[in-house]
Amino acid sequence: MRSFIFENSTKVYFGQGCVEEYLSGLLDQLGGTVMLAYGGGSVKRSGVYDKIVGILKSAGRTVVDFGGIMPNPTYSKVLEGAGLARERGVTGILAVGGGSVMDCAKAVSMAAVYEGDVWADFWLKRGTVDFDPLPLGVVVTMSGTGSECNGGAVVTHEEQKIKHDRDYPRCNPRFALMDPTYTYSVPRFQMLCGGFDALSHIMEIYFSGPDEENVSDDISEALMRGVIRDLRAAARDPEDYNARSNLMWEAAMAENRIIKLNKQTDFMAHMMEHQLSAYTDCCHGAGLAVLHPVYYRAICEKGAVKFARFAVRVWGIPAEGRTEAELALAGVEALAGFIRELGLPTTLGELGIGEEVPLEEIANSVMLTDGGYGQLTREDVLSIFKACR
Ligand code: NZQ
Ligand code: ZN
Repeated sequence: MRSFIFENSTKVYFGQGCVEEYLSGLLDQLGGTVMLAYGGGSVKRSGVYDKIVGILKSAGRTVVDFGGIMPNPTYSKVLEGAGLARERGVTGILAVGGGSVMDCAKAVSMAAVYEGDVWADFWLKRGTVDFDPLPLGVVVTMSGTGSECNGGAVVTHEEQKIKHDRDYPRCNPRFALMDPTYTYSVPRFQMLCGGFDALSHIMEIYFSGPDEENVSDDISEALMRGVIRDLRAAARDPEDYNARSNLMWEAAMAENRIIKLNKQTDFMAHMMEHQLSAYTDCCHGAGLAVLHPVYYRAICEKGAVKFARFAVRVWGIPAEGRTEAELALAGVEALAGFIRELGLPTTLGELGIGEEVPLEEIANSVMLTDGGYGQLTREDVLSIFKACR
């Protein structure tokens, strides 16, 4: 392992009943006027909203309601939240939802106290957060992004057609309440998309240097086997507590920075998906499901050592009788088979992206990373998009 400094400041409370047990005791961290951030209404239908408002009110908090955060949250929604927070003197934010709600709340926590334009200064380019964002706590209702355990927030600027991710440790939630039963009501398709997103995060980290055996890759292999097992079980029975609780923690482990230690990381599939989403508002996990096999077919020869290991250790494919290159490709095809088995989309058409979408323009807007095995050019990105049709 190379030298590193590790920090993750989020305190996690995990398990059935954790909200009732712990939330009221954590509210001092959010002050007297709490913004309750949530999405399009699932928390109202599930009863989670009423439960949390009850806890906030019994603890004497003034509640500032900030609902309607859409999947793939926009910068205008961030500005709306920041304006509301300033106007109402919000002292802390409680985000209740999936990645979109948590991400939007993190960006609001910065925009509510920063005097400049947070998009220009912190998302378009990497900035230095030398101020305290509003304190944030989260109640997770959907497994996938791992946003609960990092400072990452993905925001879409609609006019500029850019969807961008930044991870600022100062935006880590102070606390994360994770009750797996809250995820039971997630629609099947969203559950599969979230689970695939977690698998994608692990792969984006695993398929990068170093190739020597290392702790981060060991943990990643175990996590990938777990996500595959638990997604299959949760698809069979959405109320399988063991599967849903495993998935919730696997998703957090994928993005709590632990498996990134010592790793270069790739995230090229994410860069491609983010721009497809910026132009079409497609679902994040579903977009990744379309892109990954096509991308990996294109690069698995260059990363054959790691892809062959993936085939053997994650999919249980026997090495005997296969060359390293054949094994590498067999691992990618096993991944593609798993995506088909889950019923996730496998083409842009199935994702709802038609012929009219300007793939060349989108390819030109994709940020190119250099940590993976591909070292893609813009032409490569375009041919991957075309192969996804
Ligand atoms: O909006 P509501 O009504 O709450 O419904 C949501 C939404 O429609 C629904 N949902 C969530 N919990 C539910 C539920 N429905 C019923 N019962 C529940 N318990 O699920 C839908 C999708 O929610 P969303 O938050 O958009 O999904 P996800 O968690 O996959 O987040 C996606 C966003 O996170 C970004 C993505 O790009 C996308 O914008 N990402 C964030 C990352 C991070 N912060 O670290 C990393 C990821 O790579 C990702 O890019
Ligand atoms: Zn993701």
